[in-house]
Order: sequence, then C-alpha cells, then structure tokens
Amino acid sequence: MTDRDLAATRYDRDVAPFARPFAATIVRALRLNGDESILDFGAGTGLITKALHRKYPGLAVTALDPSAEFLSGLAEEPNTEVIVGGAEAVPSGPFDVVVSNLVLMFCADPVSDLSLLRAASRPGASLAATVLGRAFEVEPFHRFWSAAAAVVPGAWSPDCYGHHRLGDPHRLADVVAAAGWRDVQVRPVVGRRRIGAEAAWRWLVSALPVGVTGAGHDSYGPLDELCRDRVHHQFVGQWPLRPWPLSAGLLVSARA
Ligand SMILES: C[S@@+](CC[C@H](N)C(=O)[O-])C[C@H]1O[C@@H](n2cnc3c(N)ncnc32)[C@H](O)[C@@H]1O
Repeated sequence: MTDRDLAATRYDRDVAPFARPFAATIVRALRLNGDESILDFGAGTGLITKALHRKYPGLAVTALDPSAEFLSGLAEEPNTEVIVGGAEAVPSGPFDVVVSNLVLMFCADPVSDLSLLRAASRPGASLAATVLGRAFEVEPFHRFWSAAAAVVPGAWSPDCYGHHRLGDPHRLADVVAAAGWRDVQVRPVVGRRRIGAEAAWRWLVSALPVGVTGAGHDSYGPLDELCRDRVHHQFVGQWPLRPWPLSAGLLVSARA
C-alpha cells in the first residue's frame, strides 16, 4: 500500500464512521433529478460523492480537495473529475449543486471560499454543507493543543480549529450570506452521540498528512515520533473519563 492509499484508508477507518451520518444528511436534503452537475468541495475520500452515486449513478461530480492522499479514495469512481486544490482551483462550472461535508470550518477564509463556490454555480443552484457543532469544534482541538503545549512548550496554535465559530448557527448563516448566497437556512444534524479518548485521537491524527485541521493549517506534522507519543499520552490522560458527547452538527442550505 502506498502512503497515499494509507492516508485514505486511515481516514475511512477512523473518521468516516463519524462523518458518514453528516454526509447522509446532505444527500437526504437534496432534491435531484439525477442529471445535475455537482461540486463536492473538500471531498476527502469521497463520502458524499459515493453516496450520491449510489442513489444517482449518472450525476457528473467534480470532487475537489487539497489532499491528493485523501482523493486517492476516488481514483476508481465513475463520472467523477478529481481536482487537487482548494476553492481557488474550482473550475468555472457552472454547477447545479455544491455540497461540502465537514470542511468549511477548516478553511482559512470561509467567506472568500464560499464566494468562489457561488461564482462557479449557476443562478439558483443549491448549496448543502455541514459543520461540526459547538461542543465538538472547540473541545477536542483545544485538548489536543493543550496536550501538545505541555510536551513542546510554545506548540500552541492561537489559530486552532474553532476560530471561525461556525458551530454557532447565527454565525454560520452570516458567513454563508456574506458570501452572496441567498435563502440561507441552518438546522441541526445529530451525529454520533459520544466519542472516547482513543477514538478522538485517531479522529484528529487521521487528518494527517494535511494537518490536524486540514490543508497544512495547525498541523502537528513538526512533532517527531517521540513527541507524538507523548502528546498522545497527554491527550488521552486529559480526556474526560466518560466518552465526550459529540453533539449535533449543523446543516446549512442556500441558493446561488
Ligand atoms: C473532515 S474531512 C471531510 C472530508 C469529506 N467531505 C467527508 O465527508 O468525509 C475535511 C476535509 O477538508 C479538506 N480541507 C481542509 N482544508 C480545506 C480547504 N481550505 N479547502 C477545501 N478543503 C479543505 C481536508 O483535506 C479534508 O479532506
């Protein structure tokens, strides 16, 4: 197995069980004919693309992600154009539907990225995207960086995940509207209820090699193997004894 396949396999093993219910919510929220052109933004290993194709095999999907490693999970997927990159790499489209599962909170500038996605959409096109809810967006990442700082003084990212506060429904709606999307609606999505220390650790580190919070931001890549083991130990020791309640995420829908 190549490094590339390994990253996708680890993601599918450690993160997909938590991400899949959110992807399924997006698929359920869409009303499609089956002949639309779809943009899957931050497609990863392709949870939404594959779920959409199971329901509508004829859909033309463009799957975009900064991680070539994760995208290798879509190498064999029919009717799928795979593009390595962020929002600046989105082709002109126009797309009928933009989907994005658990990605927007990782973007350095979500308003700018959402504007680029809208510009590549035909007028009236649909957006359906999820983000993690407030409790999860802060707590595991905060604990990760506290553990890292305890092992490597100064290893703290002030810009750590959660800085956009997209887990706040009003904030999420404002960010999407600021990017020029109309008819913005936000509703809760129930994910997996609880996550234990080791599962949370695997969830975080399976985001490698793009970094704990994606696309090279806040990566713990600089930590060597020994440090990682110590951070792991520290992280697990700091986790609540009872599995952490992985509360609801949010689904935002809108029109271009
Ligand atoms: C939690 S994963 C979700 C992947 C996939 N959508 C799913 O449902 O499994 C987050 C994804 O966001 C991608 N990502 C991180 N920063 C990004 C950015 N600035 N633009 C687009 N995608 C990004 C990561 O590479 C990763 O694949």
